Amino acid sequence: MRATWLESEKPMAMSELLAQGVHYEQWPTKEGAYQTCVDVLMEARGYVEQDIIDLSEATPGLDALCERFIDEHLHSDDEVRFVLAGEGIFDIRSTDDRWMRVLVEAGDLIVVAAKRHHRFLLTDQRRIRCVRLFKDRSGWVPEYRRCSEDTGSVSAVRV
Ligand code: LAC
Ligand code: NI
Repeated sequence: MRATWLESEKPMAMSELLAQGVHYEQWPTKEGAYQTCVDVLMEARGYVEQDIIDLSEATPGLDALCERFIDEHLHSDDEVRFVLAGEGIFDIRSTDDRWMRVLVEAGDLIVVAAKRHHRFLLTDQRRIRCVRLFKDRSGWVPEYRRCSEDTGSVSAVRV
């Protein structure tokens, strides 16, 4: 995991991320080993469903999916991802509406809190495999931000 303020590219400390309400943990990626961690988190935070999402060049409609994730949005539920392989970028709004850029890779568990604006990008690897946890998958619809003043430098991805 590597976190920076997008505008200044200043690194963020873990404590700073935490203070911004971004929950982060590091778990083993071996099958069987991580499930215990998943179970503990599910119990503690009330997640009841689990699945796996795999994005790669082999995923049908990968570009269309990426376009949906790259637009700033929020959810009524937490966005919980545990990365098994590959990498990705979460841009998450701070409490004062600045972008925090978080690069996640294998072993990273991240929780983007409910109602927090964010967007997601793949890196040049174009590959990520994650466990997702939900409280209620039926409520998992992105609400896009209509009038975002600053869309940040989406095209100039630097990690
Ligand atoms: C989502 C991400 C990737 O909503 O933000 O699934
Ligand atoms: Ni999302």
